[in-house]
Amino acid sequence: MKTLRLQLRFLLPLTVALVGAAYIALPLLDQVTLRWFSRDLNSRGALMVNAMSEAVSEAMAEAVDGATPAAMSAGAPPGAGPGKPGARPPHHAERLASLLDRAVRDERLFAIAACDAQDHLLHATRAFPEGLGCARSQAIASRQDPRLRLAGGAVHVGVYPVLRPVPDPAFAASLPASEAMAPPWPASAVAVAEEGPPAPALAGRLVLLHDMSFIEKRSQDTRRYLVGFIASLGFVVALITMIVAQVSWRGWVKGARAILRGDGLITPPVNAPQPPPELAPIVDELRTNLRDLEDEYRRMQGPALEWTGERLRQLLQTQLRGDQVIVVSNREPYVHEQGPDGVQVRRPASGLVTAVEPVMRACSGTWIAHGSGSADRAVVDAHDRVGLPPGLQDYQLRRIWLTPEEEQGYYYGFANEGLWPLCHVAHVRPVFREPDWETYRLVNQRFADAVVAEARSEDPVVLVQDYHFALLPAMIRARLPQATILTFWHIPWPNPESFGICPWNREILQGLLGSTILGFHTRFHCRNFMETVDRYLEARIEAEVSTISFQDKETLVESYPISIEWPDAETLARWPPVPECRRRVAARLGLPADVCLAVGIDRFDYTKGILERLNAVERLLEKAPEWVGRFVFVQVAAPTRSSLDEYRSFQERVERAAERINARFAREAYQPVHLLAWHHEPDAVNELFRATDILVVTSLHDGMNLVCKEFVAARDDQQGVLVLSRFAGAAREMTQALIVNPYHVEETADALLRAATMPSAEQRERMVSLRSTVREFNVFRWAARMLADAARWRLRARVEARVRRLGAG
Ligand code: G6P
Repeated sequence: MKTLRLQLRFLLPLTVALVGAAYIALPLLDQVTLRWFSRDLNSRGALMVNAMSEAVSEAMAEAVDGATPAAMSAGAPPGAGPGKPGARPPHHAERLASLLDRAVRDERLFAIAACDAQDHLLHATRAFPEGLGCARSQAIASRQDPRLRLAGGAVHVGVYPVLRPVPDPAFAASLPASEAMAPPWPASAVAVAEEGPPAPALAGRLVLLHDMSFIEKRSQDTRRYLVGFIASLGFVVALITMIVAQVSWRGWVKGARAILRGDGLITPPVNAPQPPPELAPIVDELRTNLRDLEDEYRRMQGPALEWTGERLRQLLQTQLRGDQVIVVSNREPYVHEQGPDGVQVRRPASGLVTAVEPVMRACSGTWIAHGSGSADRAVVDAHDRVGLPPGLQDYQLRRIWLTPEEEQGYYYGFANEGLWPLCHVAHVRPVFREPDWETYRLVNQRFADAVVAEARSEDPVVLVQDYHFALLPAMIRARLPQATILTFWHIPWPNPESFGICPWNREILQGLLGSTILGFHTRFHCRNFMETVDRYLEARIEAEVSTISFQDKETLVESYPISIEWPDAETLARWPPVPECRRRVAARLGLPADVCLAVGIDRFDYTKGILERLNAVERLLEKAPEWVGRFVFVQVAAPTRSSLDEYRSFQERVERAAERINARFAREAYQPVHLLAWHHEPDAVNELFRATDILVVTSLHDGMNLVCKEFVAARDDQQGVLVLSRFAGAAREMTQALIVNPYHVEETADALLRAATMPSAEQRERMVSLRSTVREFNVFRWAARMLADAARWRLRARVEARVRRLGAG
């Protein structure tokens, strides 16, 4: 509506201006058309007079002289008599009058008058205005505008000479002597040329008054058409201009709106359309202001929108009627180890544990996991259960004991030599052995039995975690058909071709399709899974609603990006201040005070891109030698799956790379790379997060990666830069990080350099935004989404069952 008003505001003045211009041009146009018409009337008049000239000249001569040409030829000089019509003999005047009256029958001819050569009026038709006379007629006719206004309208005044015809001498000579006119014309009437034939002499003049009303009418019509034409032309031009303006305006407005919406303001997506160049300064300005506003807004809104353990608990009570929750994972949330000073509790380095443990604390219930710690058996009750977390006992951990053979075949063999490299596509060949598969199946069955044993009802909510338990959902479904089984696959899902490498691909898919809901971190992995099912199973896939129906059971395949628990006020209060963390880390590692510190914290796994990041550090020191002595990289690498060859050889390669770099760039007390290949407890990890300037996550492929989320959660000082691999699921959410391709050493080295030199204000801007994202999309929200979907599913299943029962009854 507004734009329409704007357009009208533009359209109306333009049309008015054009019409005004038309009115200014009209008098000019009038003059031109009058000149044309007057020329036409003059030629018309000349033609008429020409046609009448012989008869008229004779009649004039008679009227003037009262004699025929024959009489003239007898010697009466023309013009000898007075030039008054009344003084002429009547029959002479009648001839002229009748000639003129006949001529005036022409509808366009208003009146006509005959004058002699001396401008005496010989005769005039009835309408000829009294008092106009011959001389005045001549004067008017010679004007540029030969119009005469009369009471009935305007007339055009034209005065035309009437010449006496000159006889052909040859014709005269051929006449008999009696008929010959000798001389044929009085000498006074014929101007004799000195040589050649005699020139015609003037007999008089005819005054023709042409009716101009038709001209005026035409002129008025023309004027009307012209004004109409110019107005329409103006309108069309304005309309075209308006459409063009509208299109450009729309583009402009779109750009401006996009800016106001904030599209690309925080971090412009690579292929995002650029705003119009004239808006660039505004974009910059807005970008800054919006970030501040957004930060402010999120800070204000944060607590209200935030998902917390308490909210999750409420959701469980209201939407799932407080049904029992059972979690199954291979890795246990707390490991009890026999230490020199007795039993110690350790938190394993595991993204799964980081995410699921807070959820379990909120939901209570039972967690079933492999008891792998050396003192695990010592602390459980008669039912292999222990209350956790230590001292709080929010939930029960039910430990499953595996024999070394079982652990070897199921965990090291099938899960970590087979499925892990298969799904990560990190250029390590998957190994599939029949016995490993058999053990995998057997262990899955053992966990399924444990679930059934722990279930207090027919329909518990079972959360199955990860690639160690691909067969578990179908096994539980077989025993507890009413159970709601939520399976979450924490690692990537490859494309159908890659997955086809697994000799038991169909069995794995069938096992997973026992789930009510199957979750992945990203839509991309969901799609890969659906395509894999499509390739290897006879199942009905409804891509639009993301469901797969297999053997009369439906599974919802959905993406649920996992996250961490956002630290509460109590936790924050426990953390030592950032300078203190920095001081402690520097003291422990012997770092110079002004050093730029970069840290990597991972399990010692070949998928984490540790070698690639070391190469990037080396390249940075080569490219920017001014950083030698001032840039230190600390890699924490928690030992993992070390009994596997691939892992052992990978660890050796990393150690060699670290040694190589140190050998090249170390100076006196300065050591560029510190490889800390031992387990760090959460507090020690947090200290490093808070101490560092840069956190480097360069996974070659990662389902999500929670280390980067923990890092931003640790930085309540809003400082520090995150360098993040584009191949980690987290890169989709954490777009304010410096995103790199870890395979590209040069690019990663440049990102490290950029991070090292990033101004504090920019660090703050990025970090604030990253923190808002992680805070908002925390792990309680992740669990809540899955549980809410499960609740809907259960409700539907219950209603359907009731309907079936009614139908059967
Ligand atoms: C990944 C897997 C988890 C696993 C973790 C640690 O994050 O997705 O399931 O717990 O690595 O590996 P580990 O083999 O030590 O349990």
